[in-house]
Amino acid sequence: MFTLAVETGEDWWEVEALYDLCFAPGREALSSYRLRDGVDPVAELSLVARDGDGILAGAIRYWPVLIGSQTALLLGPVAVHPTHQGEGLGGFLIEGSLERAAPLGWARVMLVGDAPYYQRFGFEKLDGVIMPPPTNPERVLGRALIEEAWAGVSGEVVSARKS
Ligand SMILES: CC(C)(COP(=O)(O)OP(=O)(O)OC[C@H]1O[C@@H](n2cnc3c(N)ncnc32)[C@H](O)[C@@H]1OP(=O)(O)O)[C@@H](O)C(=O)NCCC(=O)NCCS
Repeated sequence: MFTLAVETGEDWWEVEALYDLCFAPGREALSSYRLRDGVDPVAELSLVARDGDGILAGAIRYWPVLIGSQTALLLGPVAVHPTHQGEGLGGFLIEGSLERAAPLGWARVMLVGDAPYYQRFGFEKLDGVIMPPPTNPERVLGRALIEEAWAGVSGEVVSARKS
């Protein structure tokens, strides 16, 4: 029923409008957005889901971040249009993008979100990985894409922006 495709430049504003609809106003004030400023999303992993009529139903984007000398994927924003929530599309977007990540060389993924939702996809609280304030540490979650990828990775998460 839904088709996943890599987001193109033509999709950008439609995806922005979906995020505006699905998130509280001021979403760009969140600390995670400071890690995205001036950095391109990971194009190969940023996907749109469209229904059989081509209507946008969900989207996911990723950004690269740094923790010490290690790189990680920052998952998000991910959103599903309210008329399609609860149909498994969020999971389809998350799994469909992450299965492309390891073959592209990514070892680990993190996000700031609700553990009760993301734990079904193998995300667990990351101890010692510190997002810019204000972020509730209980919401800093990660998943290894290759074995033990988070072992020994700790410290502040910073932008991958070239300075
Ligand atoms: C979160 C979101 C992407 C999930 O997409 P979805 O397609 O509705 O999710 P799925 O169909 O894959 O999963 C639905 C299940 O997740 C649960 N769920 C959804 N959001 C949840 C949350 N924040 N916390 C806990 N469980 C949640 C639903 O209750 C449902 O549970 P069930 O399987 O036991 O019935 C979607 O609800 C959304 O766009 N929300 C608004 C934007 C947002 O909050 N994005 C995530 C930021 S962290």
